[in-house]
Amino acid sequence: MMDNKSSDPIIQLDNVSKVYQMGKVEVPALRGVDLTIWPGELTAIVGASGSGKTTLMNVIGCLDLPTEGTYHLRDRDVSTYNDRQLSKLRGDDIGFVFQNYSLLTQHSAFHNVQIPRYYATGHGDSRRAKELLAQVGLSDRARHKPTELSGGEQQRVAIARALMNDPFLLLADEPTGNLDSVSGQEVMDLLKELNRERGLTVLLVSHDPEVSAQARRVITLHDGRIVSDEQRP
Ligand SMILES: Nc1ncnc2c1ncn2[C@@H]1O[C@H](COP(=O)(O)OP(=O)(O)O)[C@@H](O)[C@H]1O
Ligand SMILES: [Mg+2]
Repeated sequence: MMDNKSSDPIIQLDNVSKVYQMGKVEVPALRGVDLTIWPGELTAIVGASGSGKTTLMNVIGCLDLPTEGTYHLRDRDVSTYNDRQLSKLRGDDIGFVFQNYSLLTQHSAFHNVQIPRYYATGHGDSRRAKELLAQVGLSDRARHKPTELSGGEQQRVAIARALMNDPFLLLADEPTGNLDSVSGQEVMDLLKELNRERGLTVLLVSHDPEVSAQARRVITLHDGRIVSDEQRP
């Protein structure tokens, strides 16, 4: 279980660069990033605002392609994928959690959790939605709409939603950024439990040192480059 390095990496970035074109101006957001993430890791990405954290998460989440370099997700060369293949891969294999929860406001928690399954198959899965809401401690909030939930509860619904299609990778960009410290810690405890007990690979962005200190591996970005990559015992 701990001997992860005998298996293949989940994520392998080789010399990845991302340049945004703003009219005639080029904005380099990532500059030559090499990164390997192994199954079962819980990694935090930290760095100042504008250092490229979200861009890196978007590349890893196949929401955006690198300008240069290669990206392998579980040995698949993502740069050869077309839009339809990328969208299937995102839906099947990656769970996404965002700072602002991104729930559909007019729908219940129960419905929101099933959305990735609707996208993938055209129908929901109420049994799994119930299981997932129980797992995030919200069985008694299934019929509530996002406005009837606290921020921490909304983020736990978003985590349940991210797990709907049983992804092998969970990406969370500032998952506690809008939360008070108690709710933020509940969200962190849930992510750590999913990592520890299900072996889910978790990659999260945070600028909160109390959050990143809970990851076993912390990667620091500065101006689009990895400037440190630290493992804790
Ligand atoms: N869609 C975009 N178009 C142009 N520039 C962008 C875009 N997204 C990000 N950038 C620029 O790329 C750099 C990295 O941004 P980002 O990845 O959002 O950083 P972080 O998440 O660390 O704050 C910044 O200089 C930002 O202004
Ligand atoms: Mg960001």
